[in-house]
Amino acid sequence: MANENLGAAKRAKNDEFYTQYADIEKEMNAYLEYNPDVFRDKVILLPCDDPEWSNFTKYFAQNFETFGLKKLISTSYAPNSKPKEIPYQPSLFEMEDEKFDEIKTVSNGKIFTLTRDANNNGAINFEDLEWEYLDGDGDFRSDEITELRDQADMIITNPPFSLFREFLAWIVTAGKQFSIIGNMNAITYKEVFPLIKDNRLWLGATATMTDLVFGVPEGYEVKDSDRDKAAKLGYVGNFTRLGNACWFTSIEHGKRHQPLPLMTMNDNIKFSKHKEVRGSAYQKYDNYDAIEVPFTDAIPSDYKGAMGVPISFLDKYNPDQFEILFNADDMEQTREFGVEPLGEKRVADYYAAGGTGGNSKGHRKLFLYNPRPWVPFKRIVILHTRPQ
Ligand SMILES: C[S@@+](CC[C@H](N)C(=O)[O-])C[C@H]1O[C@@H](n2cnc3c(N)ncnc32)[C@H](O)[C@@H]1O
Repeated sequence: MANENLGAAKRAKNDEFYTQYADIEKEMNAYLEYNPDVFRDKVILLPCDDPEWSNFTKYFAQNFETFGLKKLISTSYAPNSKPKEIPYQPSLFEMEDEKFDEIKTVSNGKIFTLTRDANNNGAINFEDLEWEYLDGDGDFRSDEITELRDQADMIITNPPFSLFREFLAWIVTAGKQFSIIGNMNAITYKEVFPLIKDNRLWLGATATMTDLVFGVPEGYEVKDSDRDKAAKLGYVGNFTRLGNACWFTSIEHGKRHQPLPLMTMNDNIKFSKHKEVRGSAYQKYDNYDAIEVPFTDAIPSDYKGAMGVPISFLDKYNPDQFEILFNADDMEQTREFGVEPLGEKRVADYYAAGGTGGNSKGHRKLFLYNPRPWVPFKRIVILHTRPQ
């Protein structure tokens, strides 16, 4: 039990990663390049934020007029609802305001809204944000924040990583457009993959190989290697970096409509830069009618059937060029698509054919066998929409 609590506390602590302005700008620019009016007349909600510090709030407030926003709403989560190790000190801005309340500052969330030139200086920007304490702690699952969600056209944030699934469901059930940061591994979650397959969610424009840097609270433990990598990118001090964070969105951007340049199967076999592909035929799987394609750039442009490709393919996925059939690592989906399970019979056949591997019957362990059976493992199975 104690361990469980410790685990939960550690996970929640990992929720305190603050996004950098440059990373927000880069991703939003891709949406704006595709459609300069993407934010026009929109109500944007930035939940799970910390409006006084948040770069999301700064970015959208500073660009309020340029983007033609209708309303910006940013909400924060009460300090007392966060793990107690997270330091909190109300800002001078809050303490000097007549609304300051010693109890609410720790027990309530805050809401910042921007709709008008509140200080009458002729421009609408960060300085015009108006704030109040929320009635509750700002939990996105509360009725209070859910009502704000319902008012919004778009929801944009870096939500707590430990609640990613719940947060995404909260947005998707309301049918809102979104752009949120999460862990790359979420791609294969059973709640996420079907949305990708149905083109209701896709990866953002920032390449998934990009290291994203995040601010962390004072005193937060960061691995030296991550701190050093963040410092090399110009972020010195309370920063860390994540190599596996990426944007998940339902906002269009140009990258997802760029066709992936590919060679024919014959040219790949003759000229591929990958030694695994050059000089040998594409392997057919033993348990499903598809070919194994070990690298996304080795997808043959002229193959008409199903192909198993690495999960990183999703970074290059263009729905005009490819159709996603299923995630081969999801038992339910493989069953639905008729992938033959590698059960006892296959193990028996394997030995009968002179196989010499270990005696595990688990299908993953079959990779240890020699010769190795070809199965779609860690693969997404796709088709060309129009093979050349
Ligand atoms: C990953 S941080 C990102 C903060 C900010 N959006 C940014 O990108 O800089 C997630 C924030 O959500 C807050 N949070 C945690 N659980 C929450 C909940 N149930 N409802 C709302 N916010 C929550 C955390 O305290 C943290 O401040």
